[in-house]
Amino acid sequence: MEKRELIYEGKGKKMYATDDANLLIAEFKDDLTAFNAQKRGKEDGKGALNNKISTQLFKILKEKGIATHLVETLSDTEQLVKKCEIVPIEVVVRNIATGSLSKRLGLKEGMVLPFTLVEFYYKNDELNDPIVTDEHCLVMGLVKSEKDLETLRHIAREINSILFKFFEAKGLKLVDFKVEFGIDKDGNILLADEISPDSCRFWDAQTNEKLDKDRFRQGIGEVKVAYEEVLRRILS
Ligand code: ADP
Ligand code: TMP
Ligand code: ASP
Repeated sequence: MEKRELIYEGKGKKMYATDDANLLIAEFKDDLTAFNAQKRGKEDGKGALNNKISTQLFKILKEKGIATHLVETLSDTEQLVKKCEIVPIEVVVRNIATGSLSKRLGLKEGMVLPFTLVEFYYKNDELNDPIVTDEHCLVMGLVKSEKDLETLRHIAREINSILFKFFEAKGLKLVDFKVEFGIDKDGNILLADEISPDSCRFWDAQTNEKLDKDRFRQGIGEVKVAYEEVLRRILS
């Protein structure tokens, strides 16, 4: 597989074209950003950790029947993925109240939600990824039909039930996470992007210690140590 031109550089990854028009190389960066990149940092080795963590989680999801963009790992920081047209909706799944949910609705941090919440955010940095309703998604044409939104919700809930149980067995609470979906050349909806401590919240089941990007967002420190611990538990 030949790595060709850089087609996109985002906050956490660089995306490269390859000699196959249907495949891209995703290169995970060591950069850390929060609050729509108003806070910036760097952690040597973070990209490699996220690449390993996300690859492992995508493999687990694939075994359970979730279609994903992952083709194979190429190096410590690179993976080969199926090129998709990304649906510009960040699908956030929440099991426990924290973060923007607690801030917006005043829900007590740590409250176990009576049922799993799925929220849609419009993926648009200029607008600061605003939360949107189904009707907003349809008015803006982010998806073709209501059925597509139901499909995104359904797959996101399936991902949650698989990963929630998986992490529970590893002594971690899957508090919430964000996923992105893409449409491949054959029109299939695939889980795309990544699932890592950059895009999830993990709390230790015993101590509630935060083991994710909140350590960077909140200036707690030892970010890499936490990501290493997540990888260790995933592989244990
Ligand atoms: P951001 O764009 O939010 O800063 P990243 O730095 O992670 O995020 O950049 C990766 C970009 O590549 C994201 O915009 C993501 O939606 C997109 N992407 C992820 N997987 C695929 C894929 N399989 N095909 C095309 N684009 C993808
Ligand atoms: P929030 O509580 O800040 O809305 O975050 C919900 C989840 O989504 C959390 O696991 C972190 C993740 N997330 C992203 O992956 N990207 C983002 O831009 C934001 C704001 C959150
Ligand atoms: N993903 C956003 C950023 O990188 C916000 C966040 O994750 O807190 O700035």
